[in-house]
Amino acid sequence: MVLRKPGPILVNGLIRLEYRGYDSAGISTIEKNGISLIKDKGRVKNLESQAGLKELEGTIGIAHTRWATHGKPSKENSHPHMDNSKTFSVVHNGIIENFEALRERLKGYGYKFYSDTDTETIPNLIHHYYKKGGIENFLKAVHDACMDLKGSFAIEVICSDFPDNMIVVRKDSPLVIGKAEGENYLSSDIPAILSFTRNFYLLNDYEFAVLSRDNIDFYSKDLEPIEKEVQAIEWNAVGADKNGYEDYMLKEIYEQATSTRETVGARFQTGKQTSFDELNFTKEYLSSLNRIYIVACGTAMHAGLAGKIAIEKLSKIPTEVDIASEFRYRDPLVDEKTLCIFLTQSGETADTIAALKLSKEKGAKTLAISNVIGSSITREADLTIYTHAGPEIAVASTKAYTSQVVLMNVLAIYMAEVLENNDQKYLDSLKQDILDLPEKVEETLKVSESLKGFARQVFQEKDVFYLGRGVDYAIATEGCLKLKEISYIHSESYAGGELKHGTIALIEKGITVVGVLTDKELIKKTVSNLQEVITRGAKTLIITSDKDLDTSSFDVVLTIPETNSFISPVISVIPLQLFAYYVAKEKGLDVDKPRNLAKSVTVE
Ligand code: G6P
Repeated sequence: MVLRKPGPILVNGLIRLEYRGYDSAGISTIEKNGISLIKDKGRVKNLESQAGLKELEGTIGIAHTRWATHGKPSKENSHPHMDNSKTFSVVHNGIIENFEALRERLKGYGYKFYSDTDTETIPNLIHHYYKKGGIENFLKAVHDACMDLKGSFAIEVICSDFPDNMIVVRKDSPLVIGKAEGENYLSSDIPAILSFTRNFYLLNDYEFAVLSRDNIDFYSKDLEPIEKEVQAIEWNAVGADKNGYEDYMLKEIYEQATSTRETVGARFQTGKQTSFDELNFTKEYLSSLNRIYIVACGTAMHAGLAGKIAIEKLSKIPTEVDIASEFRYRDPLVDEKTLCIFLTQSGETADTIAALKLSKEKGAKTLAISNVIGSSITREADLTIYTHAGPEIAVASTKAYTSQVVLMNVLAIYMAEVLENNDQKYLDSLKQDILDLPEKVEETLKVSESLKGFARQVFQEKDVFYLGRGVDYAIATEGCLKLKEISYIHSESYAGGELKHGTIALIEKGITVVGVLTDKELIKKTVSNLQEVITRGAKTLIITSDKDLDTSSFDVVLTIPETNSFISPVISVIPLQLFAYYVAKEKGLDVDKPRNLAKSVTVE
């Protein structure tokens, strides 16, 4: 078998992982004369031009793309980090919370530090514990070092004494191992190595793996050998490619007819109850619930806002939406009679996982809704449902959001059917609306392209406001976040009725206000609020499904297909996603990798 050179493979892997962080990058391989180290601040692309990359020969290598936590983006702070003797090289995701104490301890032993990172303590700690000998000594040193670490970590370690091996371990940070023919791969996410294999091992907290080209040995926290089952992943590499689109985000926006169809799958069948093989809810169980919490971060939290409306209305169970980072520290009222739902695209968001662990401790049943098979949260939760939206690569979430909204609606209908507290004909009509979504998504994508022109008028502005009521407020909030994330324009969303309690002071001539008008019960009310901003000189973009609405006073009107208000977010968010995209493109920005953001936030 021809051994492949590591440079291009590692760089390609990093390019695919770049959405997780992109302020510096680096790689290390084991060469004949010791461990190589090539790293710098900036994008992964910069690595390709670095001297020596093409000449690397070693067939074991590690690489990293960074989202700075400790220490600014700089060459010194980039990973990999080596110990003083240059025997070990390490890449690390996560945060070592006790790094200052460890640093002081290591300084006491004579170690020197050359970066501001928490990570640099790890190779030196491994070196401190290392006694030359067999591979078991290397493993023992990594193990002993890990036992001293507090915080979260996924670590890959190479050692110049073992040119054919690598050791990996994780705690609270994602790590997958891909098994191929005569080659093994590691990554913090599946897409980076999907073109090499579909067979993966998933490590649990404090499990160690010793890898060579054609073997993987697994060990428990006590270094006892353990067996792990290989899991086949259905995604294909094309799903993780741009497929001819200019950006991942645009591709993912256009995939929403397919992805929402995949989310529903075969759950609705004529004349049958909605099926959720993953759940075992009974009428008694659901009737006993005192409340449901939907806990999430970012866009997933916005999907929760939309989901709450359907779940609460159909099941009549009080439902609250909470930001995971708040929930986990506010001693929420959770007990055995609470169902806690955790929405997360990646399944790796640190705050959401911590909120789940807390709910479990308090006795609640926990349900994870994730897009990533085998992600950390799915291994913690009592129950898991997958959104099946396919790989989402762009940092700004689009198709994962619409799939989450669809799934929350399917769940709400399922619960209503189990509870038998709604007219079945009404529930059937809601199901039909969900089944009709893909066609309406296609139509919405077409009409929304006309917003390119409006984006040209807005891209130099400093502030944009979004208004809506009820479910349209939830959409306004998500549309507003999209604009902020990728165009860096300051934007705020308000419940229409709340505007006059302060924010209206900011409305002046020429300011852009986006109104979302789909909820029939509330359209007139929001129109009145929009009149208030028009009177004060605002220019307005209106997204509406009401064909009979008098739109004469608005500047730009986009009419989208009508559907029931529970799932209208799936349709009405599309023009807002595309609007944000067009504005960012007009500004010449990198929409897939917006500044300071990362797709998977595995740190607190
Ligand atoms: C980050 C991403 C957002 C995402 C949020 C929650 O902030 O940039 O796009 O909505 O994390 O991620 P999750 O994977 O938990 O849905």
